[in-house]
Amino acid sequence: MQTVTAKPFIKWAGGKQALADQILAAMPKEFETYFEPFLGGGSVLLALRAESSVANDANKWLVETYEAIRDDWRRVAGLLDSLPNTKADFIRIRAQSHLEKHPWKRAAYFIYLNKTCFRGLFRVNRQNEFNVPYGEYDRRYYDPENLAAVSEAIRTIKFCCGDFELCLDGTTSNDFVYFDPPYYKAGGFSDFNRYTAEKFRDAEHFRLAALCRELDSRGIRWLLSNSNTDFVRTLYRGFMIQELESRRDINLRSRQRNVTELLISNY
Ligand SMILES: C[S@@+](CC[C@H](N)C(=O)[O-])C[C@H]1O[C@@H](n2cnc3c(N)ncnc32)[C@H](O)[C@@H]1O
Repeated sequence: MQTVTAKPFIKWAGGKQALADQILAAMPKEFETYFEPFLGGGSVLLALRAESSVANDANKWLVETYEAIRDDWRRVAGLLDSLPNTKADFIRIRAQSHLEKHPWKRAAYFIYLNKTCFRGLFRVNRQNEFNVPYGEYDRRYYDPENLAAVSEAIRTIKFCCGDFELCLDGTTSNDFVYFDPPYYKAGGFSDFNRYTAEKFRDAEHFRLAALCRELDSRGIRWLLSNSNTDFVRTLYRGFMIQELESRRDINLRSRQRNVTELLISNY
């Protein structure tokens, strides 16, 4: 019997935990399979708990970490328990992590580095070596009850690793897709250099918008998050565009209303 509601086990830039309820409320009431091509920390996937889901991310280490937690979270937790939170250990683990072959060890290193590095950022160089500096935080790497709950919650999910376009083969008009790409940054540049060695630039935003139009023409419903910018509004002109207030926006409301998030849909 599941008692703990599974929550993200990593800190992830652009994580939607605070907005998950509003995003869920904007979803269709019924669909067959749920697709999430930009999974990240999984806040929406874990909150939704759909019976049939396909989850994808271009970050291979991240996807392998989900799979290792699903397959044997206790082993991942056991190794995490033995990793000291000191700068010297962080540097040693960071240097060896990309050479590790065992999936559960790679998963433990991923979580360890996420929780001990500066602001939980993810950045790798061209050789795929993690290169975020040490963060000097005194916090738990994981909560055993939550890791167990995540493992259970993702047991039947189909994970894919690759570009967002590739995981949508086989979608039908009974399915539903939620897209949460790296945001187009207000101020004119894309939020392109987080998450993976490859960049998410304007060309990727154009490609995603073209894919959304193609899905729309096939009668497949989708919902998409992005920044409240002219660039995004122009890309998705003709679709339903809803402003979504984050907690930060609501706090600012009395002084200066500044909605940063858009939720766009074709239904
Ligand atoms: C805004 S984050 C998703 C956050 C997630 N919804 C959450 O709540 O944590 C965007 C994700 O897209 C992934 N990504 C970047 N480029 C991608 C691509 N071309 N195809 C698929 N995923 C990509 C990143 O690795 C990152 O995890």
